[in-house]
Amino acid sequence: MFAKEVYVRRRQTLLAKMREAGEKGLILFVGNAEAPAQYKDNCYKWRQDSTWLYFMGLDEPLMAATLDIETGKEVLYADDVDIDDIIWMGPQPSVRSKADAVGVEKNLPYAELDKVIDIARRSGRPIHYINPSRYFNTLKLMELMGTKKVQEGVSKALTEAIISMRLIKEDVEIEALDHACDLGYQMHSAARDAIEIGIVEQEIVGKMEAVALAKGWGVSFPTILTQHGETLHNHGHAAVIEPGKLMVIDAGVESNEHYASDFTRTYPTTGKFTTKQREIYQIVYECNELAFSLAKPGVTYREVHLATARKMLEGLCALDLVRGDLDEMVAKGIAGLFQPHGLGHNMGLDVHDMEDLGENLVGYDPDQQRAKQLGLGSLRMARRLRPGHVITDEPGIYFIPALIEKFKKEGLGYDFVNYAKLEGYYDFGGIRLEDDVLITENGARRLGPHRLPIAPDDVEAAMK
Ligand code: GLY
Ligand code: MN
Repeated sequence: MFAKEVYVRRRQTLLAKMREAGEKGLILFVGNAEAPAQYKDNCYKWRQDSTWLYFMGLDEPLMAATLDIETGKEVLYADDVDIDDIIWMGPQPSVRSKADAVGVEKNLPYAELDKVIDIARRSGRPIHYINPSRYFNTLKLMELMGTKKVQEGVSKALTEAIISMRLIKEDVEIEALDHACDLGYQMHSAARDAIEIGIVEQEIVGKMEAVALAKGWGVSFPTILTQHGETLHNHGHAAVIEPGKLMVIDAGVESNEHYASDFTRTYPTTGKFTTKQREIYQIVYECNELAFSLAKPGVTYREVHLATARKMLEGLCALDLVRGDLDEMVAKGIAGLFQPHGLGHNMGLDVHDMEDLGENLVGYDPDQQRAKQLGLGSLRMARRLRPGHVITDEPGIYFIPALIEKFKKEGLGYDFVNYAKLEGYYDFGGIRLEDDVLITENGARRLGPHRLPIAPDDVEAAMK
């Protein structure tokens, strides 16, 4: 947790933003509850809601809060433990002391929330809440708001105010993100050192997650580690590591402060790239470098995505996998055949930061429209970059036989794509290279004290 003043200031800023927007009524935050995996005492690993963590800091289940936009009055709703809880959990700090730790003056039992919201609703006061990220919160809001249509009541003003705050990382958050990226670096280094022909992929995953658990909260999302990198989010780890393959490792650590890292590296399983692998790797590497060099305040990440798409097509052109005018190919979305995802996303408390609040609200400025094109349409962060944005830079090239066949069958890209040559890449797999980037006053810097080896020679040297 950060210092009390951090949470007090954030809530005051939020209230001020709501007042500036002409809003009245109550802001309602519903923290997460434990989620039983099988029966109520055997739960999934505890994780608090990220917006709750941002404003309320308290990392415990079954809490809620109201902030009165008009009076500024803040209330924490939570229960003190009883003797039954103490028998199983040991003595716990009082709710009062927890409220003090985050600078909230008043606390009430959890059940009082129902009455407070009921009274506010009866007197016609607006209740501002965000899109619930979990089923428990959805059910709780249904109960509190007396409707099944919780989504329809989501406060756009509150959502936008929160996004505007969480998008621009504060110094304490940048420090926390640097730390999460340091842990991510350590985890990825352990993974790279563990690659060995003949072992099962899962063995590496175990070694990686040991680092994440020993030094942080755990992984920031289910680890992607596969010799079938052409499947973008491949969570199967049952394959034996074979010579001559490419292994995509896309993984991150969530620190104990709950900030995420998210890195991807692609390794030749034998420690040395084949010529064919190196040619494609070099293109992805250059796209990653180009994106970083272009990322600075004032530029939109959509422009950066399109510039890397052009660079990618230029590289593929040199290999005669595509042919034609680069700008025309970019406009027609030919890069999407090779990279059917966006260049990156926001990162912070969530690995895909705030996507529970709405992908487009988080990733697009009001004057931007999300494209429908394959690839560009999956761009989750298109905004004009500002100092304090934290984004990923993750270009990739994938040879997805089913997608190539579909393009071919539907006559797409025939003017540009050398389908005959592409057939020789059906067993290639995929390559993705991802760094985490902070936008600074004048440009950008990669987060974390060290950068994982990425240039092809450096990767081979690190694998020796
Ligand atoms: N690293 C997983 C993702 O960005 O979707
Ligand atoms: Mn990512």
